[in-house]
Amino acid sequence: MELKFAGVWAKVAAMRILNSPNKAGGNGDRKSLEACSIVIFGASGDLTARKLIPALYHLFKDKLMPETFRVIGFARREKTDASWRTELRAALDQFSRTKPVDGKVWAAFAENIFYCVGDLTDKAAYAKLGKQLESFGNPALRDNLLFYLAISPSQFGEVVEQVHCSQLLKRDGPGWQRLVVEKPFGHDLASAEALNRELTRYAHERQVFRIDHYLGKETVQNILMFRFSNSIFERLWNRESVDSVQITVSEKIGVGDRGGYYEEAGALRDMVQNHMLQVLSLIAMEPPVSLEAEAVRDEKVKLLKSIRPLSVEDVAKQIVRGQYFAGAVNGEPRPGYRQEVKVKPDSNVETFVALKLLIDNWRWSGVPFYLRTGKNLPQSASEVRIQFRPTPNVLFAAQCGSHLDANALTLRLQPNEGISLHFNGKVPGTTLGVRPVRMHFSYNAEFGAYTPEAYERLLLEAIAGDATLFIRRDEVETAWKIADSIRTGWENKPLTNREFYAAGTWGPIAADDLLAQTGHEWHEPQVIN
Ligand code: BG6
Repeated sequence: MELKFAGVWAKVAAMRILNSPNKAGGNGDRKSLEACSIVIFGASGDLTARKLIPALYHLFKDKLMPETFRVIGFARREKTDASWRTELRAALDQFSRTKPVDGKVWAAFAENIFYCVGDLTDKAAYAKLGKQLESFGNPALRDNLLFYLAISPSQFGEVVEQVHCSQLLKRDGPGWQRLVVEKPFGHDLASAEALNRELTRYAHERQVFRIDHYLGKETVQNILMFRFSNSIFERLWNRESVDSVQITVSEKIGVGDRGGYYEEAGALRDMVQNHMLQVLSLIAMEPPVSLEAEAVRDEKVKLLKSIRPLSVEDVAKQIVRGQYFAGAVNGEPRPGYRQEVKVKPDSNVETFVALKLLIDNWRWSGVPFYLRTGKNLPQSASEVRIQFRPTPNVLFAAQCGSHLDANALTLRLQPNEGISLHFNGKVPGTTLGVRPVRMHFSYNAEFGAYTPEAYERLLLEAIAGDATLFIRRDEVETAWKIADSIRTGWENKPLTNREFYAAGTWGPIAADDLLAQTGHEWHEPQVIN
């Protein structure tokens, strides 16, 4: 069934097949990808060693890379091809999702890896890169180029200009050239617009692939599959049946050694503007007219634009921020945020946000969407809970009490990926007793423990030129408008006592009050065995 779909879904299906024990499907998918070179700017950084090379290695191992390809790392530090390969191999041993690393596969893969020493601002370095691409002797390896900008956004403009001037980036061929960029994509609407202008100065929007790694997650992709390939749930997916929706992305970790970055970001910019609004838009969007990238992204943007704008007064009522103070997560002591390295001792940066958003469209009018995310919470778990309306009357009130749990559907995004339906059942026995029970689907039990890293999927899509899982210009800008309105509401006001929470708890009291106003409460992510 999946194999009938175009683009990303066909490849998703092909990846599953390739990784299934009988390997049905062969390596037909790999043959359809054109030869190309992947140029990583900022190659000596963490991302390359931790994510990009392990992802490319696994794609290669699973025979999903094009037959012919090259990877060129571009960075300032002096290295040779050989020394870079040795370094990457050591990193792979550490970060690979499959262990041990297959020596033979690595050796074959590593033959395609090269290193180009150069400063991002040095014209001559780009000329050298051009020569290196030329030296591969295959026009496709010179013309089909994926530029991965694993660098600070402040350097995007420089790199785009340089690759354009050295004839490596062209708007209309020959071949294809694409720019892959990481988050943070700006720190507000104005800076995101400026980045967009820089990126599209010498490239079409369709050549720009903005990463949100949540879209590379299997369970996040499954939101659309679940909604639009089943008939029973989608007809309940609206204001008639849904009482409220909760999206939780909680993390047990604190900010650790990322204090410097976090002081500039905070939870709103780090998680809400991107990952959480992406999940929200997939949960709440209308069905797209097709699975083409533009059709899917049109619907996501439409949804983001339907979120009711937040005035300063609305922010005070609907958005709660928080910051952790010293506590313990599962018995492990944690310092307060203000005591973390590179954090100001009087910092007001939020490490927790809870939001109540309303969506002004026919489907969702009046249904609150509650979102929360934070660091140093008791569990690391991401899930979406669709809370259905209660029954109109409780037939069993006399015997079981007037309170019945309302039905809910939980999409568990990570870990223990799965979907649960909660309903009430009779407790076996001669008396009438009711108890909430659940039906549970587990990815691992159903499909085995095959979980590709988000970057594998995203790199594969970028190589294939399918932008469905990447963020479009208007999408990133619309999301920033929402984040900016919240920041304006906070107006640099210092945090109040009600906005602090002890590390290891579910956020500040104000977050509970936010839901209590409408008779709701947060549901802790379920512990799934
Ligand atoms: C990143 C944030 O984008 O996402 C981090 O910068 C956060 O602060 C991470 O920890 C969460 O990603 P995941 O895949 O672990 O849920």
